[in-house]
Amino acid sequence: MAVLRALLLLATVTRVLANAKYTGTGSTGLYWDCCKPSCSWTEKGPWLTHPVQTCKKDDSPLNDFTVGSACGQGGTAFVCNNQQPWAVNDTFSYAFTSTFIPGASEFDWCCSCYELTFLNGGLEGKRMIVQASNTGYDDPKRTIFGVGAPGEKDYADGCMDRYNSDGGGFLGKEGRPLTKRSDCESLPKQLQQGCFWRFDWFLDAFKPNMTFQRVKCPKALTDITGCIRDDEDKFNASAGGKTNAASTPRGDSFGLLATSLVLAAFAFAFNV
Ligand SMILES: *[C@@H]1O[C@H](CO)[C@@H](O)[C@H](O)[C@H]1NC(C)=O
Ligand SMILES: *[C@@H]1O[C@H](CO)[C@@H](O)[C@H](O)[C@H]1NC(C)=O
Ligand SMILES: *[C@@H]1O[C@H](CO)[C@@H](O)[C@H](O)[C@H]1NC(C)=O
Repeated sequence: MAVLRALLLLATVTRVLANAKYTGTGSTGLYWDCCKPSCSWTEKGPWLTHPVQTCKKDDSPLNDFTVGSACGQGGTAFVCNNQQPWAVNDTFSYAFTSTFIPGASEFDWCCSCYELTFLNGGLEGKRMIVQASNTGYDDPKRTIFGVGAPGEKDYADGCMDRYNSDGGGFLGKEGRPLTKRSDCESLPKQLQQGCFWRFDWFLDAFKPNMTFQRVKCPKALTDITGCIRDDEDKFNASAGGKTNAASTPRGDSFGLLATSLVLAAFAFAFNV
């Protein structure tokens, strides 16, 4: 009896932990680094198609995913200009994010799509669907979805190279981020749309929190990155973001088996 109860409890705990990869709460932010996104490498995910599209300096597609990032790595791959956010209406936007979910890995989130529902910052009730195109390693203990939008936290070195700019637009006056809508006009023209979005739709919110839930990727996003995961059809959004048994990562099954054996041995030894 006790063994059975322990196993049932364990199964529940394991399910909650597994789901934490796909659903939970976290915070957001804005960034634009001009670099090759982390999910643009072939080994970063289980692709049906290919990793996140990268671009050459002139924004034409660069389809060789072995080319290194132009940001300090001697490569020639940049993020494409069209991976900026856009609003569908007042309460719904699309975007690409630099993602980090504790307990998950790039192999889980790269090119997965998530619905974000904002909780504060004046954005209450607004939603976004985003595709994880990049990875944020700033704080590995927190869930973060950094929205790729220019003008708040830019990597000036990478962007200056990309746009032959003196960096003024990227750092704002005296090295501060841009603070008002009209400041967006100091960015290269190709990057102004995402900057305007920050003030028009995102209401210049500072790191607002949200709940996230993995959803099947809309074509509107995958048409831009060309990146589709091979678990998109197996993935069961109505089960709280759980993938079905066929796509459960091996590590989870091993962990479950090992912990079950330990618990069963404990229950047996102490006759609980
Ligand atoms: C905004 O667009 C979303 C996504 O298409 C839709 O679900 C929602 O109903 C729209 N809201 C309004 C107020 O038009
Ligand atoms: C928002 O997220 C931050 C960082 O995770 C957390 O410290 C804070 O308590 C959250 N605020 C709300 C209102 O949920
Ligand atoms: C998806 O999950 C829901 C809720 O758990 C379940 O009723 C449904 O049968 C699942 N669908 C598939 C295809 O696994």
